[in-house]
Amino acid sequence: ATGKFTYDPGFMSTAACNSSITYIDGDKGELLYRGYPIEQLAVNCDFLETCYLLLHGELPTAAQKEEFVGTVTQHTMVHEQMNFFFRGFRRDAHPMAVLTGSVGALSAFYHDSLDISNPVHRDVSAIRMIAKLPTLVAMAYKYNIGQPFVYPRNDLSYSANFMRMMFANPCEEYKVNEVLVRALDRILILHADHEQNASTSTVRLAGSSGANPFACIAAGIACLWGPAHGGANEAALTMLESIGSVEKIPEFIKQVKDKNSGVKLMGFGHRVYKNYDPRAKLMRETCYEVLNELGLHDDPLFKLAMELEKIALEDDYFVSRKLYPNVDFYSGIVQRALGIPTSMFTCIFAMARTVGWIAQWNEMISDPEQKIGRPRQLFVGSEKRDVPAIDKR
Ligand code: SDX
Repeated sequence: ATGKFTYDPGFMSTAACNSSITYIDGDKGELLYRGYPIEQLAVNCDFLETCYLLLHGELPTAAQKEEFVGTVTQHTMVHEQMNFFFRGFRRDAHPMAVLTGSVGALSAFYHDSLDISNPVHRDVSAIRMIAKLPTLVAMAYKYNIGQPFVYPRNDLSYSANFMRMMFANPCEEYKVNEVLVRALDRILILHADHEQNASTSTVRLAGSSGANPFACIAAGIACLWGPAHGGANEAALTMLESIGSVEKIPEFIKQVKDKNSGVKLMGFGHRVYKNYDPRAKLMRETCYEVLNELGLHDDPLFKLAMELEKIALEDDYFVSRKLYPNVDFYSGIVQRALGIPTSMFTCIFAMARTVGWIAQWNEMISDPEQKIGRPRQLFVGSEKRDVPAIDKR
C-alpha cells in the first residue's frame, strides 16, 4: 500500500495462526485445553495427563498414561557433561539466565541425528524436554546455592521428583508431602499453555525456520523471563513484600494511579483477559490449601494480597480498564509456601510452559503448509533520498 497509515499498536501484536490446542475467551474469563475447562483439569488430572492431552489432543487411557509416565521417567537424567556446562556460570547468576543457557545447550546433545520432519523424532524431543526441564531447573537452583546436584529418581512422581531434586541434600533426605506435591502439580497444570502468548509466539517464530527444537524452547524461556510476562510472579511477590502491610495499600494504589511513577500492580491486567483470569482463582484456592496444610492460614502476605485484590476490584481505575488478577498474582505466594525461592518462580513457569511450547511447535512443524514466519511492518521512516557528500551533511 502506498497510502499513509496511522500506526495501530494492536496491528503489530496480532500474528494470526490456526491452532486447536488452547482456547481463551478473554471477556468470559474462560480457558480450555483441547476443549476441557482448566477448572476441571486442575482438579481431576495431574500434570503428566495434561501434558499428554496437550501433545496428543485427548486425555490418556490408564494404559496410555502408564506408558507415557514411564517414558518421561526414563528421560529425566541429563548428559553428565551438563554438570561441567553449569560450572561456566557465576554462582549468583539469575536462574533464568542459567536455564536459558542450559536448555539451549541441550541442542548440542540432540542435533545431528534429529530429523524434525520425522514425527517419531518430534515425539522423542517432546518427551526429552518435558522430562529434563525439572532436572535442569533443580540443577540451576542447587548450583546457585552451592549444593551438589541431586539426581532424579524413577520411583517418584513427576512433581515429587522435582521437589526432591530441589530440596534433598547429602545430609538429609526430602520427605515427600503429597499435599505440597499435588499443589505443585496444579501450579504446573495452570501454567502449561496459554495459546499465542509472547513466549509461545517466540517459539513458533524460531521453530518456523526449522531450528533445533531445544534452541527454540531456549528462545521461549528468554522471552518468558521479562517482567511483563513470566517474570511477573517474581515481581508480584516483591511488590507485596514492599507494600508490607494492609495499611500501606492506599498509598501504593495512589502510586499506581500516578502515571509518572511507572508503578504497576504486578499480577494484574492481561492482553487477553478483560475479566478474571480463571487461573488466578484456582491459584488462590491452591494457595489457601497449601497454607492451611502448613498451618500458615494467617500468612500476612496472603491476607495482604487478598485485601489488595478486594480494594483494586472496587476501584474505578482498575475496573474501568478491566484490570483483574492474572495467573501471577497469587502464584508467588503459594510457591514461597512450597519453599521455592523468589528467584526460581519464573523457572517453574518455564518448566510448566515447556509442554505448551513444544505442543504448539509440533502443531506448526507438522503442518504441511507451514512456511517460515515473516511478520510485516508499517514503515513510518524517511522517504527515499540521495546521499549527500560529507561536507554537505
Ligand atoms: C502473563 O499473553 C499471555 O497469555 C501471558 C500469560 C501466559 O500465560 O502466557 O497469561 C502470562 O504474562 C500474564 C501477565 C503478567 N504480567 C503482569 O502481571 C505485569 C503487569 N501487567 C501489565 O504489564 C499489563 O497488564 C499487561 C502487559 C499484562 C497487559 O497490558 P495490556 O493489556 O496491553 O494493557 P495496557 O498496557 O494497554 O494497559 C491498559 C491500561 C493502561 O492505562 P491507560 O494508558 O489506559 O491509562 O491499563 C493500565 C495501563 O497503564 N495497566 C495497568 C496495569 N496493566 C495495565 N495499570 C496498573 N497496573 C497494571 N498491572
